[in-house]
Amino acid sequence: MLELRDLKKTYGGRAVLHGLSHQFLPGEFVAIMGESGVGKSTLLNLIAGLDAPDSGAIIVDGQPMGALDDDAATLLRRTRMGFIFQAFHVLPHLTLVQNVALPLLLNGQPQARASAMLAAVGLAGRDGDFPRQLSGGEMQRVAIARALVHQPALVLADEPTGNLDPETADSVLDLLRAEVKASGASAIMVTHSHAAAARADKTLVLTRSGLELVSFPH
Ligand SMILES: Nc1ncnc2c1ncn2[C@@H]1O[C@H](COP(=O)(O)OP(=O)(O)OP(=O)(O)O)[C@@H](O)[C@H]1O
Ligand SMILES: [Mg+2]
Repeated sequence: MLELRDLKKTYGGRAVLHGLSHQFLPGEFVAIMGESGVGKSTLLNLIAGLDAPDSGAIIVDGQPMGALDDDAATLLRRTRMGFIFQAFHVLPHLTLVQNVALPLLLNGQPQARASAMLAAVGLAGRDGDFPRQLSGGEMQRVAIARALVHQPALVLADEPTGNLDPETADSVLDLLRAEVKASGASAIMVTHSHAAAARADKTLVLTRSGLELVSFPH
């Protein structure tokens, strides 16, 4: 589904990714941990197309992203990927259902699923509310609904529960796992939390030498 081949990324002469290769399996929910500054967000940003690698390939469904023109790469990301990034926050001037419907709108798909998706994350009947009326945990639920509404094959999440108290984080992670598994998507979740990583099928640690499998009792 997703393969990284010899990815290299340098910022201002400092190498962050040194030739990273990894194959992610379809339907697998993977946690990525690792020291602050090691390049976890950089890696997700490259997969998401927010930044470009210096060399190497990101291969989605057998297609090297670098070989596609900008429009084709954007289309592939928009239809096949879902994002839960703290930087892509829920938009304050849109209602909850409008926020969740955004990926459908961008893909020209019917928007009816947005309301059902809000209900699936425990926000039934809140369609017309605005983000300012929500708690942090509820906001992350909206972000999860939006990331999954267009049934992406790959969900990317960077610290999806970083700002939440442990109980709220637990319920958001249960929801994320349940929705990802129900949809059959693959997911990559970057986290500093062992409790969060324990919700994944397996945990990889990013180090200077690459992505290494670690075994925690999952
Ligand atoms: N746009 C950028 N310009 C310059 N340097 C950058 C940029 N983005 C990241 N870096 C540098 O690359 C390194 C890796 O950053 P990254 O954000 O990927 O780390 P991380 O593993 O996600 O850390 P954290 O756990 O703290 O979120 C850091 O040293 C950072 O300063
Ligand atoms: Mg980061």
